[in-house]
Amino acid sequence: KSNGSIGKEITLALIKPDGLVGNYSDRIKDIILESGFHILRETALQLDEDTAATFYVEHSSRSFFSSLIKYITSGPMWVMALEKENAVADWRALIGPTDARKAKITHPDSIRAMCGLDLEKNCVHGSDSPQSAQREISFFFKDVFSGGFITKHDEL
Ligand code: PPS
Repeated sequence: KSNGSIGKEITLALIKPDGLVGNYSDRIKDIILESGFHILRETALQLDEDTAATFYVEHSSRSFFSSLIKYITSGPMWVMALEKENAVADWRALIGPTDARKAKITHPDSIRAMCGLDLEKNCVHGSDSPQSAQREISFFFKDVFSGGFITKHDEL
């Protein structure tokens, strides 16, 4: 098990239930590796509703919250900690806009254009900042930051 290396950044990637159901995991992992990411950790799991609500707590007052929790707990997900220089922004660029319908028009080469359906069933998730990445990676992989993981971000 590696704990990362100096100068690299890490981000959290999820292949959501619709991505697994549609059999997109292998294609998405190929894209990840071809794009120069190192998969630092990976696991499959299905969240229960309480755990999902904690993960998405920042959206708890939004009108779509209960729908989002129902969807994200509907089946297993593939969870990965991805390492690379500029990992957070580069993974967000690869996945494309949140709304997969828009992605198909404006970012046809993006992962969400390939396998997403709409705003909810958008196939993949990526942390939106290095701070979110730290919280989200700790949420799934508790050992990553306790093992002396070093990044270029002071706040990490
Ligand atoms: S924000 O805060 O407005 O920028 O949020 P956004 O990036 O648009 O979306 C945050 C996550 O909520 C999901 N989402 C929805 N789910 C169900 N229904 C609706 N209408 C909806 N709108 C947004 C969206 O897929 C995002 O999930 P993650 O996992 O963060 O990509």
